[in-house]
Amino acid sequence: MAALSSFADTPTAQPSEEDRLSLAFLKDRSTEKALLWCTEYLNEEGHGSLLPMTRKVMLQICSDPTLTLDYLPTLGLPEFTRSATELALGRDSPAIRENRAGGVQTLGGTGAIRLGAELLQHWYNVGGARCGPVYLSSPSGGSVAATLQGAGISDIRSYRYWDPDKKGFSVEPLLEDLEVAPEQSVIVLYASAHCPTGAEPSQSDWKQIAEVMRRRRLFPFFLLPSQGLCWGDPAQDAWSLRYFVSLGFELLCAQSFSTNFGLYSDRVGSLLLVLKHSSLLLAVQSQAASLVHALWSRPPGGGARLVTMVLNNPALLAEWKEGLRVMVERGMLIREKLKERLRMLGIPEFWDHVTQQRGLYCCTGLTEEQVQFLVMTCHVYLPASGCVNVTAISGRTLDHVAESIYLAVTSDLQEYRH
Ligand SMILES: Cc1ncc(COP(=O)(O)O)c(C=O)c1O
Repeated sequence: MAALSSFADTPTAQPSEEDRLSLAFLKDRSTEKALLWCTEYLNEEGHGSLLPMTRKVMLQICSDPTLTLDYLPTLGLPEFTRSATELALGRDSPAIRENRAGGVQTLGGTGAIRLGAELLQHWYNVGGARCGPVYLSSPSGGSVAATLQGAGISDIRSYRYWDPDKKGFSVEPLLEDLEVAPEQSVIVLYASAHCPTGAEPSQSDWKQIAEVMRRRRLFPFFLLPSQGLCWGDPAQDAWSLRYFVSLGFELLCAQSFSTNFGLYSDRVGSLLLVLKHSSLLLAVQSQAASLVHALWSRPPGGGARLVTMVLNNPALLAEWKEGLRVMVERGMLIREKLKERLRMLGIPEFWDHVTQQRGLYCCTGLTEEQVQFLVMTCHVYLPASGCVNVTAISGRTLDHVAESIYLAVTSDLQEYRH
């Protein structure tokens, strides 16, 4: 009997902007095509790089005769969450010494954001107004908003972050937005390597941000998606987070080990919790365990074992840090080369912002019509925000990308105007 499907009324979901760009790129037959948006660190061949050290440590773990594949505890491998917490806060952090900081192993950084959002939705400010608005930077990258919405957070607002005139970060509009945010709002902040702009607040900016947040009783939810890949030094990349902890803030921080360990498919992340007292940490962790039971039951072991081994072995740790430094230097070199090519082509205006930004991402400052032009006529694919992942520009595509940007900036784009 041909019964009507129970899903007959299911509409096809719209692909995300990232998926739309990838699909268009795959269909494009041009030999010059370039896809400039993704969240992986890409090597010269355009692959998410597997660090040589990662392969070596994986083999070591697999050949250990004592390895078992039993379920991990609900909160994750204890040595992993301890190491992840120490990497974020520093081994000598008073919050660790006082047993009021700890982690929960998650499915990558996305899982950490989801678990953090669930905790906020269920337990933040339970006696008061519950979880109020959650603020994201504008522009905001990746799928952070969708992940928050997936946990039932519907009041998502934005704070100003990117200054289009300066083509960089501006602290004043952000401070103004924080001043008028309702008390106890949750503010999502990239600790470093801001996605998608690569524009970083200075330490003095962070001090002003913290001062307003403390006075207005705003709650920080930090994201640390690629610790070490912004400044080449994991401690420097966590400076803002450590500063907030030193001021006594309670906070959440979603850590990802996908990019800085090249472990995308192993889904390694941690939700870091810093609370006022150790008893509160135990209570919140116990609620996190209940939520994890309902979400994914137990976390996967492979990648977490690898990260733990590297972070606790001085020789491997030094090798990992050196790998980060090399990756960061390569990113800076690509930025320098792009800026130099644009200068040689005679592009109007300075493009210093390309080298002033840090990490994987760069906000070019191109307008929506200039982006449209690049996508429609130059086979260069990037999102409407004009932000790119610099490691997606290889030696093979650099000239074409630079020439296309030059054309986009100098042509009359009447037909691309909305
Ligand atoms: C900049 C950035 N990269 C990557 C991710 C995803 O990380 P993961 O692959 O570990 O889930 C996120 C999560 O929001 C992010 O903000």
